[in-house]
Amino acid sequence: MSHVFVTRRVPGRAIEMLEEAGHEVVVWPGDFPPDPESLREGVHKADAALTLVTDPVGADLLDAAPGLRVVANMAVGYDNVDAEAAAAAGVWATNTPGVLHETTADLAFALLLAAARNVVLSDRDTREGGWQTWSPTGFLGPDPYGATLGIVGLGEIGRAVARRARGFGMTVLAATRTPRPEVERGLGVERVPFPELLERSDFVTLHVPYGPETEGLMGAAEFAAMKESAILVNTSRGGVVDQDALVEALRAGAIGGAALDVTVPEPLPLDHPLFEFPNVVITPHIGSASHATRARMAEMAAQNVIAVLAGEEPPNPVNRPPNPRSA
Ligand code: DGY
Repeated sequence: MSHVFVTRRVPGRAIEMLEEAGHEVVVWPGDFPPDPESLREGVHKADAALTLVTDPVGADLLDAAPGLRVVANMAVGYDNVDAEAAAAAGVWATNTPGVLHETTADLAFALLLAAARNVVLSDRDTREGGWQTWSPTGFLGPDPYGATLGIVGLGEIGRAVARRARGFGMTVLAATRTPRPEVERGLGVERVPFPELLERSDFVTLHVPYGPETEGLMGAAEFAAMKESAILVNTSRGGVVDQDALVEALRAGAIGGAALDVTVPEPLPLDHPLFEFPNVVITPHIGSASHATRARMAEMAAQNVIAVLAGEEPPNPVNRPPNPRSA
């Protein structure tokens, strides 16, 4: 019987699926991630780990888990997992593509609308008794309808955002590394260089994976290039934005606002300067948080575990161990 360590309670049928496949499953019971020591203990005797974005999986953890054969991350992003170190150790690393892009695109749009139309700010004001009369000048914001949207990264999520933007009559620009003329044509998207996207967009939404190439992609120069009225939306990873530069840009009025589902660190400490700005909306990394999507993500991670423990290649690998560990 193989042992699977699951680092938090997860929705859907993932745990049943693992048990039905004959595995012994230990689920970390807390509402918070296991601390480093508990994570080491959890994986020490495990054959597989089902991890979350909150679990750092580096070479040291892999060393502490000599029997581990797969780290199945319940996320499409896997910057918390050192996939190369895992491959070198003979451990598969997997993710959950293809199931969360629509849900994350919904949130990107929700954030865009919330920031533009002062949804959060006016709700807070209403609850505090601020609704005294209909005001011709209160809570004014830019119109998303008919505006220009700049999508940075035209992967699954970026494309899903582009489809939504059409319903809002937006002009959609995209900055992407790889030209895909047919996809762009199909979406009605104009591929432009990144600096041009920053200059022309009323809203800039980030959909790139986090890594050395995208760390701090939005820095002082990029904020300076944006329109003073433009709003930044980030549902990718906090590290794609240089947060100090963002704070400076907001202080200087260099941009119109920001809506962030991801920050550095997570959670963002309550005394962080980003909380000072009324034109900033912050949500707690909930891009994929719909009932159905989170269940699908967990089940997909379970399928990856089940495949590897059955001696097969996982359906969603993000690395390729030259010599995969076997039972
Ligand atoms: C992901 O899948 O990478 C999200 O950030 C977690 O839902």
